[in-house]
Amino acid sequence: MSTEDSCPSKANPAIGRLPRPASMNTNVDVSTLVDTDGGMIDRSIYTDRGIYGQEMRRVFARSWLFLAHESQFKKPGDFFTTFMGEDPVIVTMDKTKTIRAYLNSCRHRGVRLCRADAGATKMFTCTYHGWSFDLAGALQSVPNEQAYPEDFDRKDWSLIDVPSLATYKGLIFGNWDPNAEPLEESLGDMRYYMDAMLDRDPEGTEVMGGVMKWELEGNWKLAAEQFATDWYHVNMSHASALMVMSPTGRGPKAEIAATPGRQFVAPNGHGAGFPTHPKSRFDAGPVHEYYDYPALRERLGDAAVEGPMTTGHATVFPNFSYLPVNGSIRVWHPKGPDKIEVWAWILVDKSMPDEVKDAQRLYNLRTFGPSGIFEADDGENWSEVQAISHGFVTNSVPLNFQMGIGSERNDGVYPGQTSELYSDAAGRSFYKHWAGLMNTPAWHEQGKQSQQPGQ
Ligand code: FES
Ligand SMILES: [Fe+2]
Repeated sequence: MSTEDSCPSKANPAIGRLPRPASMNTNVDVSTLVDTDGGMIDRSIYTDRGIYGQEMRRVFARSWLFLAHESQFKKPGDFFTTFMGEDPVIVTMDKTKTIRAYLNSCRHRGVRLCRADAGATKMFTCTYHGWSFDLAGALQSVPNEQAYPEDFDRKDWSLIDVPSLATYKGLIFGNWDPNAEPLEESLGDMRYYMDAMLDRDPEGTEVMGGVMKWELEGNWKLAAEQFATDWYHVNMSHASALMVMSPTGRGPKAEIAATPGRQFVAPNGHGAGFPTHPKSRFDAGPVHEYYDYPALRERLGDAAVEGPMTTGHATVFPNFSYLPVNGSIRVWHPKGPDKIEVWAWILVDKSMPDEVKDAQRLYNLRTFGPSGIFEADDGENWSEVQAISHGFVTNSVPLNFQMGIGSERNDGVYPGQTSELYSDAAGRSFYKHWAGLMNTPAWHEQGKQSQQPGQ
């Protein structure tokens, strides 16, 4: 399998071919809404429809977005449908076993071309008027084609492809920016933290079963930011779940509640936090017994095994998050400012025996599946934030992100800048990067008239 790292210098000429009204491209200066030095966030960034539209244009249309796992594609024609922001995409393996991705919208009248969640096919045939596209996105047949003008050329009506695709250790990412910074550079030091989940074994990882999907009332950033930065909520929000998990049925002991650990703070919005106390480890028994810890220490290094491989949390900016301890990888798909569709996969090491994979699957479902005892706690918090945030006065009162201001440093153990486990540092960095993108024209605005902040 290969993933073509195609970076044509020009964007697809079909995008924005017709001039668009300025009202559709009005941009708000968000610099006053995100005060990362003072540690305050204005709540309108979660509720405002205009800001949401700007996010689609300037964050989601230019960031590396998680699409799927390589193990979902075994033979030519295997496909999976997902979203990049609110743009629907088909991810498929073509005849040369190259992974490709296309906008899942027919070039004729725009209907969703492929309505299945996943499957295998030779062609994508539109159910509206019957235009058919091959696995390379080329328009192959048009019913009643002779009725079109003489200069009608099927080549001009291929599917809109995602110009930049790349994989990192089994994870497939796409970017609408034809000249996007390479994925590995964009991940930077985050790769070290991801490796603690993705690179435990030379055979790599695979996903088990299908994709679990559920909806939450809430803005996508509430979830993404929490997974980047927030260990703080664990002992309070998950107190009852921790008691269930505890062999004694009691709440977390002091050494767990005040657990030592670190938080990775990437300059471009990624974040990861993890305890380093061995008693903070909440993995599934059979998985724990399966691992050869001396070999893992050899492979990943002591610090990775004692930290990011444990009960941590992480977000790859903007909306891909994971939990290394139970192999939960998930995307927070934005569905308007007030709604998230969560898509979650179960990730296991390919080389695990079936019974160990199954133990991981059950552990994943019981903790962070759609009705997992921890998952329900988190969704409840985000929904509660969102439900009241449209009130005028409520919306005018900023949120606090001041924990650990100035604490970021290179600690000599973990790569990049890290902060304390209990810190908002990665959250501040998440919003700083977000604001930077929101205030900067994207690839599709070059040479076009669009209103800039302050105009
Ligand atoms: S919309 Fe697809 S063929 Fe008409
Ligand atoms: Fe949580």
